[in-house]
Amino acid sequence: MKIISIITEKGGVGKTTTSIHLGASFAELGLKVLLVDFDEQRNLSKGYKIEKSFPYNVKNFLDKTGQFRLTQKLESLFILSGSREIAADDYERTQLRERLNYLNERFPIDIVIIDCPPSPLSGKMKLGEIALSSSDYVISPIEAEEYSIDGINELLPEILRIKKNYNSNLNFLGFFFNKVNTWSKRYKKYSPLAHQEGKGYFLNTIVRIDESVETAKSEGKTVFQVAPKSRASEDYKSLAEEINTKIFL
Ligand SMILES: Nc1ncnc2c1ncn2[C@@H]1O[C@H](COP(=O)(O)OP(=O)(O)O)[C@@H](O)[C@H]1O
Ligand SMILES: [Mg+2]
Repeated sequence: MKIISIITEKGGVGKTTTSIHLGASFAELGLKVLLVDFDEQRNLSKGYKIEKSFPYNVKNFLDKTGQFRLTQKLESLFILSGSREIAADDYERTQLRERLNYLNERFPIDIVIIDCPPSPLSGKMKLGEIALSSSDYVISPIEAEEYSIDGINELLPEILRIKKNYNSNLNFLGFFFNKVNTWSKRYKKYSPLAHQEGKGYFLNTIVRIDESVETAKSEGKTVFQVAPKSRASEDYKSLAEEINTKIFL
C-alpha cells in the first residue's frame, strides 16, 4: 500500500479534481485504489454523490466507532467519504496511517489518495499535517499566478518540516501546474519563477485548462468518460503515468 496526499494551502487549485482523475487512472491500470475525502467541505464525496448523512465516513473510520464502510465506484475504485465534523485536534498525527494499515491488512489496497483541505500547515496542527504525517508521498497542484509563488514559499518548508520531525518516509514528488494555458503570458512569466522557488521539486506533467473538466464535474463523471480525447484527459493520464513510474517502478 502506497499513500499519497494531494495538498495546497489555497482552495480551488485542483486537489479534488486531481484526486478523482488519478484515482480513475490508477484503477484503470488495474490497481486497487482508495480515495479518502479528508476535507470538511466534502467536495470529493459530493462529486461521487455521497450524501452528507452517509454515516460511514472518515471521522467514523478514525474514531474507530462501529463498522466502517467504503463506497465502491468502479471495479477497483473505493471511496472513504468525508465528514463535516472532523477536527484535527481529536487525533494523533499518524492515526490515519494506523487506520489505513488496519484496513489494508483486511482489505489490501495498492494506492490510497488523500484529498486534503486547503489550509496552511503552519501553526496549530491541521488535517493536512495528519495526512502528511501518514503518507509516503505528496504532490501539490499550483496555478500560474503570483499567489502560487507565495504558496510554494510557504508550503515547501512546511512539507520539509513534517518530513524532518514526524515522517522521514515522506517523499515530496513535487508541485505541478494545473489549469494552465501554456500559451499565455502569465504561464510564461510564472513558470520559471515557480521552478526557481520550487527548488527542483517539480513534476514534468502540466495539466492544461480545459472546459471538459467542468462538464465532467457537472455530470458526476471524469474527463476520461465525457471527453477521452481532450487535453485534460491526456494530461491527467500523463500525470498518473509519471507518478506511477515514480512510486511503483
Ligand atoms: N485542468 C482544469 N481545467 C479546467 N478547470 C479545472 C481544471 N482543474 C480543476 N478545474 C476546476 O477548478 C475548480 C477547483 O478545482 P478543485 O479540484 O475543486 O480544487 P481544490 O480541491 O483544490 O479546491 C473546479 O470547478 C474544477 O472543476
Ligand atoms: Mg477540494
